[in-house]
Amino acid sequence: MKAIVIPEFGDAEVLTLMDVPTPQPGPNELLVNVRATGVNRADILQRRGYYPPPPGESEIMGLEIAGVVEALGSNVEGFQKGDRVFGLVSGGGYAEQALLDYRMAMTIPEPWDFPMASATPEVFFTANETLFTGGNLKEGEAVLIHAGGSGVGTAGTQMAHLMGANVFVTAGSPQKIEQSLKLGSNAGINYKTQDFVEEVKRQTRGQGVHLVLDFVGAAYLNRNLQALQHQGRLALVGLMGGTKAELNLAVVISKRLKLFGFIMRSLPIADKIAIKRRFEEHWFPKLIHGQIRPIIDSVFPLEQAAEAHKYMESNQHFGKIVLTIT
Ligand SMILES: NC(=O)c1ccc[n+]([C@@H]2O[C@H](COP(=O)([O-])OP(=O)(O)OC[C@H]3O[C@@H](n4cnc5c(N)ncnc54)[C@H](OP(=O)(O)O)[C@@H]3O)[C@@H](O)[C@H]2O)c1
Repeated sequence: MKAIVIPEFGDAEVLTLMDVPTPQPGPNELLVNVRATGVNRADILQRRGYYPPPPGESEIMGLEIAGVVEALGSNVEGFQKGDRVFGLVSGGGYAEQALLDYRMAMTIPEPWDFPMASATPEVFFTANETLFTGGNLKEGEAVLIHAGGSGVGTAGTQMAHLMGANVFVTAGSPQKIEQSLKLGSNAGINYKTQDFVEEVKRQTRGQGVHLVLDFVGAAYLNRNLQALQHQGRLALVGLMGGTKAELNLAVVISKRLKLFGFIMRSLPIADKIAIKRRFEEHWFPKLIHGQIRPIIDSVFPLEQAAEAHKYMESNQHFGKIVLTIT
């Protein structure tokens, strides 16, 4: 089969379409003819050599796939050859064929196309686990979602809005803020021209928010704490602004704050199955009924993976970038 490989770590140009061996399904796995795969920020880190796959997983990039079942392992139940499926994988998506644990597989609803299915698991799973399972966001609470135009940000904004939260987002351009307001955010803050702490305080009558969903890390840590109200929660989900920061613990204690981190890729399969079940229970029906949707910015053919990566790194996109295989 053909796959995009990383012969050496570096810029997008290193990505190469090559013939590689077709993976063989283990007892719990489906072999899927991949028709679409979501591009994620993690893929950029993997290409640069900063985010290796968990031990034993495919070296090929790609954390979510949609396609057609080609073959089944001996333990697989509930699926057959020819089924349209989608799901989260630990790697292997940027290829004509990939393995998907059947316990992580979901049937693609009839009206959905493959790009829509492939753009769903990573961002909706992550947003559910951090806003709700870990972040305990409740109706009527205020939440600040950074990188409001990211894949995870666009999913999280819709989910928080639907749950009746007051949603603030940050983004790097007026266009992204306008697009986010259409998804249900109540206010957008351009972090390049405005101070998000001041804006949040101003718009919450000095109170601050109950929860911050952060992908920036070090560069935002102390300002995130300032933006939280008493007993607020900070979800650390990405580190685009650095990994090391000095923390004033007096703020954490005096405001009785909670900080937690989240990473999905390296979790044991049992935890991932639980994440998928929570998604199926709370959000899959809402996606099927069109109350929320993955926001797809652009679709590239697999052979243009390097172009897709460059585009992601330019930060011009709003929502998901998807690769397709025809
Ligand atoms: N922990 C997990 O399991 C998990 C799972 C999924 C995703 N993530 C993390 O979630 C984040 C979003 O992922 P994604 O794939 O949805 O990303 P994405 O679609 O590529 O969007 C990222 C956006 O963040 C903004 N940004 C980039 N660098 C920034 C910085 N230094 N400061 C502020 N904003 C910055 C840019 O938009 P602007 O125009 O607004 O600058 C950019 O478009 C990433 O950090 C990723 O690693 C974590």
